[in-house]
Amino acid sequence: MGLPSLLVPGTALASPVQPPDFKKCTTPLDPGNGAPSVDCCLPVSTIITDYKIPNLPMRTRVSAHQVTPDYIAKYTEAYRRLRSLPSSDPRAYMMQANVHCAFCDNAYDENGTAVDYQVHNSWFFFPWHRWYLYFHERILASLIGDDTFALPFWNWDAPGGYTIPPMFDNPNSTLYDTKRNPLHRNPKVVDLDYSFSESNRTPQQQLQVNNSVMYRQMVTAAKTPSLFFGQSYRQGDSPGPGAGTVENTPHGTVHVWTGNPSNPNDEDMGTLYSAARDPIFFAHHGNVDRLWSIWKTLGGRRTDLTDSDYLQATFEFYDENKNLVRVKIADALQTENLRYNYQNVDIPWVRRTTTRSAVATTFSGPGGGPSPAMAGPLKEKIKEKYRDFKKGLKEFKADLKDKMAGRKLEKTLKALVKRPRKVKAADFDEEILVIEGVQVACDEKVKFDVYINLVDVDEDKVGNDVAEYAGSFVNVPHTAMKMAETKKGLTDSRIRKSNFRLGIGDVLADLDIEDDDDFAVTIVPRGKPNIPVSIDDIRLEYE
Ligand code: C2O
Repeated sequence: MGLPSLLVPGTALASPVQPPDFKKCTTPLDPGNGAPSVDCCLPVSTIITDYKIPNLPMRTRVSAHQVTPDYIAKYTEAYRRLRSLPSSDPRAYMMQANVHCAFCDNAYDENGTAVDYQVHNSWFFFPWHRWYLYFHERILASLIGDDTFALPFWNWDAPGGYTIPPMFDNPNSTLYDTKRNPLHRNPKVVDLDYSFSESNRTPQQQLQVNNSVMYRQMVTAAKTPSLFFGQSYRQGDSPGPGAGTVENTPHGTVHVWTGNPSNPNDEDMGTLYSAARDPIFFAHHGNVDRLWSIWKTLGGRRTDLTDSDYLQATFEFYDENKNLVRVKIADALQTENLRYNYQNVDIPWVRRTTTRSAVATTFSGPGGGPSPAMAGPLKEKIKEKYRDFKKGLKEFKADLKDKMAGRKLEKTLKALVKRPRKVKAADFDEEILVIEGVQVACDEKVKFDVYINLVDVDEDKVGNDVAEYAGSFVNVPHTAMKMAETKKGLTDSRIRKSNFRLGIGDVLADLDIEDDDDFAVTIVPRGKPNIPVSIDDIRLEYE
């Protein structure tokens, strides 16, 4: 809960989060898991002006797999110059990376409060990164004196972009980073469902899983603005109230897939303080940014947020002239305002791919299962399976005596969810599964997958290309700790608590259970066992 807005001087009834005061920076920070401490404080400026977008030519961001040799030459030269700026220059390579560290790893408090400032896991995620990329791009452009320069995007959501883009995979290039997973160099296909170990899927199977993840996160689970953009974040709110679907996956999975698991926190890309030290970060976020634009074209209720605490929130960045400037979210809703757009490429996942029900295949053989929107005896058999399965389940109850305040998610959790009302996919309302109070240790990589009515299937083997799959939660490691706290043995601020929300109307329709009074939810933790995760409640919401 935020402070009642009347308590914030001069902001009656409005409380957009204000940028932190750069003078009040905490250093050093502890990245966790034994990694050396870091200092990512940004230079202080006494002058801050409102940014005016200069008169720029319209620029097109191109797929990193489709760039010309000419483009590669310019881009690598811009990075060479960036890397050779003196380290105190606000445009310098490490300063650029530290901008990300500063606003993800709690170097600052929200201005005028004692609450950590955080641009992830809330509705800040898309607009803050859009502005961050904008200024990074402008700095590169000015270093090579070319106003037409635009960043590329890593098109990991389509077969044409499924590998590390070759220009980033060249050890002699200024775009290369040594701290990446050596198993994931070309021609390895990116795993958008990465569960922190190698999946051994064939490229063809991987493609199907990737499409399914994209379809869920962009199309079925994110039909309303709050599902896509993440939870509201106002002045005085605790940081990171809850991420939108895409911020969890594939944004989070691609981060961890790219970083090197031999490093303490999967540096560089696998943890937020070091992620932007890898030049590929900006191409990764180019694609995330592109998905924001695409999402708004998918129809239905998919429009930008209109809350004034969102639109009026401001950020500060150093521009290409080393001036500290202030920008507003409202000015970044359309990429055209920032004078860029994206190359049009095929969007394979937008076509419906997830119709095969896992339980149906237990009757009709692998790959042969029709959608349960099927007729006759098979449908009856499946309904019977569902009934039997649900009979053995109880509703979720958190054990409040537990130290982590909720119930630990050490192994697969199955629970019954009762539906207070029934909503048909065709209705206006979206039915939302809320996993409330998800607590994780910030510095751990965490992923869990959520399924509905997953019966007769081995959870460890099921892929996310089945109709029962509802979505995935991911925590990209980031620290919340000040080194001083670590030294005192304090661990509380290492815990992050947020809500995880998924639109499930289409899953219920696909499983043909829109008329049922209840359903079974299965939550499967992935990755290393015994990573502390707990949840407070599982419930439904309607929006
Ligand atoms: Cu600021 Cu991909 O994280």
